[in-house]
Amino acid sequence: MNFFHPLMHNNFTTGDTKAAIKLLRKKNIILTQSSNVEKFEKTWSKWLGVKYSVFVNSGSSANLLTIRILKILKGDGEVIVPALTWVSDISSVIQNNLKPVFVDINPKNLCMSEKDIIAKINKKTLAVFISHIQGFNGLTNKLLKLLKRKKIILIEDVCESHGAEFNNKKLGSFGLISNFSFYYAHHMSTIEGGMICTNDVKIYNLARMLRSHGMAREMGSKKSENKIIKKYKKLSPKFIFLHSAYNFRNNEIGAVIGLNQLKSLDYNNKIRTNNFKIFISNIDSNKYRTDFDLKGSCNYAFPLILKKASFKNRKILELTLTKKKIEFRRGNAGGGNQLRQPYLKKYTKNINLNKFREVEHIHFFGYYIGNYPSLKKDKIIKICRILNSINYKN
Ligand SMILES: Cc1ncc(COP(=O)(O)O)c(C=O)c1O
Repeated sequence: MNFFHPLMHNNFTTGDTKAAIKLLRKKNIILTQSSNVEKFEKTWSKWLGVKYSVFVNSGSSANLLTIRILKILKGDGEVIVPALTWVSDISSVIQNNLKPVFVDINPKNLCMSEKDIIAKINKKTLAVFISHIQGFNGLTNKLLKLLKRKKIILIEDVCESHGAEFNNKKLGSFGLISNFSFYYAHHMSTIEGGMICTNDVKIYNLARMLRSHGMAREMGSKKSENKIIKKYKKLSPKFIFLHSAYNFRNNEIGAVIGLNQLKSLDYNNKIRTNNFKIFISNIDSNKYRTDFDLKGSCNYAFPLILKKASFKNRKILELTLTKKKIEFRRGNAGGGNQLRQPYLKKYTKNINLNKFREVEHIHFFGYYIGNYPSLKKDKIIKICRILNSINYKN
């Protein structure tokens, strides 16, 4: 369908095409994971302000490897997760036989409610796996202090919030591990792709190994590898598998595209942040929510959330968006309340949805529409006029 306002526009540039073609024209090229992947990881680490990054084939793979690392390092226990997030943030927990403990969201930033996290921490809590939803920061000083005091691991999912900040520091540089996605719909793209970031060398080496079949030769340190080779004398030195793992590697084409995209990320994010302000100051705050916590935020989408919980109004809104060719998704991140999804049935039998009021509102009455760098002010005003002129029922 040809949309008047799509969710994303031009996220793959002629510069990206040129970078890929330049690579493909080289003689004796290697296209599987090699020096460009390493260069992208180093450049990304520098941009983010962390020591190490591991480029993988998706944000979901980053989630799964991260929780596998948590399991290897900490064993069994509970992981506090948001009810509003992407499916892989929760499936990664259950696939590693850890227990997901769900919390409601803060309506001002759509991220986990600080109050609910604090209420659900107990002796079995290994980690809080926060998702910074649609460009909003979900961290608070109180939460960071508490997690530090209780020695609970913070893992950040920044797949929807590249470049957003808290206390003037980029999100993804606070947690023990952080994850990014470079899927087409996000702030920048490598076609498909993800990144695992950390300051901890042990975690970095584990992530590298788990990304590549659990092979010892991927462990990042020659000294450690030689020790392993000596220990397993009867094994072929290049084929020692220390963990049952995956092949989650990305490739050189993704890496050169990523390097090129990263050059314009900060500039594009400034436009997105400015666009967001134009949306907020032009949309009718009697009909839609506008009281978001914008400090440090950087949104690739505009959250269009009906103030009133009304199925009749929801129908009117969806009909208008469809008629006016404004592409939308209901439920904001990941389609809304994960607790309602069939894959979680076994875990949610005894959960009372009335205790998840905020995510429930988003599930039924929350949407997002596009906020991409090529979006111009007059178009945003036009979109707001369309949305404001809808006659909702009281
Ligand atoms: C919060 C969050 N985490 C993880 C992912 C997974 O990323 P990918 O699509 O690259 O697998 C997404 C994807 O949209 C996401 O929004």
